[in-house]
Amino acid sequence: MYGAETTTSDSERTAFRRAEKQYKLYKSQKSRKKNGIKPTDLSDVVDFRAVLDSFERGEGLPPGIVEFDCPGFDLPVFCFKDRPGFFFIPSALTIEEQCHWIQESLTTFPQPPNRTNLTAIYGPILDLFNAVRSQKVLIETENTDKLVDHDLKNSENILHSRKFLFYEGANMCGKQSCKSVAASVLLRKLRWSTLGLQFDWSKRNYDVSLPHNKIPDALSLLAKKMAVPALSSGEFHPEAAIVNYFGPSDMLGGHLDDMEVDWTKPIVSVSLGCKAIFLLGGKSRDDSPIAMFLRSGDIVLMAAEARECFHGVPRIFTDNDHADISAVLSQFSSEDDCFYADYIRSSRININIRQVN
Ligand code: OGA
Ligand code: MN
Repeated sequence: MYGAETTTSDSERTAFRRAEKQYKLYKSQKSRKKNGIKPTDLSDVVDFRAVLDSFERGEGLPPGIVEFDCPGFDLPVFCFKDRPGFFFIPSALTIEEQCHWIQESLTTFPQPPNRTNLTAIYGPILDLFNAVRSQKVLIETENTDKLVDHDLKNSENILHSRKFLFYEGANMCGKQSCKSVAASVLLRKLRWSTLGLQFDWSKRNYDVSLPHNKIPDALSLLAKKMAVPALSSGEFHPEAAIVNYFGPSDMLGGHLDDMEVDWTKPIVSVSLGCKAIFLLGGKSRDDSPIAMFLRSGDIVLMAAEARECFHGVPRIFTDNDHADISAVLSQFSSEDDCFYADYIRSSRININIRQVN
């Protein structure tokens, strides 16, 4: 559901695809020498930081944008007149809160039994971020403690008895055939992790039979508090979260999140790290999407009709001038936190929290 089509005709077929093409990062734009390549035209991208600034100065709002008055909710919330059910809460999180959730996303969230994109390849990986800190290497080993005689006669069992473990340095493995990968490389390959009810990407659905922990209480509390503007009645019960990790050239193709039962309930979506462009389309890919910046600390809610709107993230800004993460980096300036700073300097994390049933 998250793939982007690749052929030229497909990539230009719909208004949504055309917008993705307009905003995505091109290889030629990555090189320092710009080779005469035009930078992306960002003049149509809605900037809710500027919207918030002018709102707080008592100036008007841009056409099509309204403030959503939510009694008892103490942060400014904005909506698009023609996208009911979509809410933007700029700077919803303090710098300290942003750093806390970045740390959680890198340390506890990818821990088993939570699954990640790496689980299918390596099995459950324990303490990935600690392994990065201590420069460990993941090495395929034979799980000899569990090998008994009859296993040895059964090649399938031998295959299953292999497992990956972290070791100090790369020299632990004598055999040439032995697979190994540095923890730092693995962390760069982390694309998603799932909290609470586990989402199975191959089946595009929640697999309630997979072992899982409840989503962390503090995250559930945050989501409930932030969901208030999008709840007309009833409560929001967070049951699952998908954490997306984006590197400099990663994007999230246009999609719908349609595997949850009750679409009146919002998806609460938290942005952390480098700035991104979010495209909010309509109910058809032929509707021209609205482009907006998502910065670290922003939260968006998609509920009701907005649940039927195609959306995606065609661009992450990891260059110094556009990433907008200087406050986060200065919070991570101690030597102890340098691994967080190194990671987030060129990454974006999105935590989206959902009620499944
Ligand atoms: C998603 C999603 C948006 C974002 O994971 O379904 O839409 O801001 N994420 O990364
Ligand atoms: Mn989505």
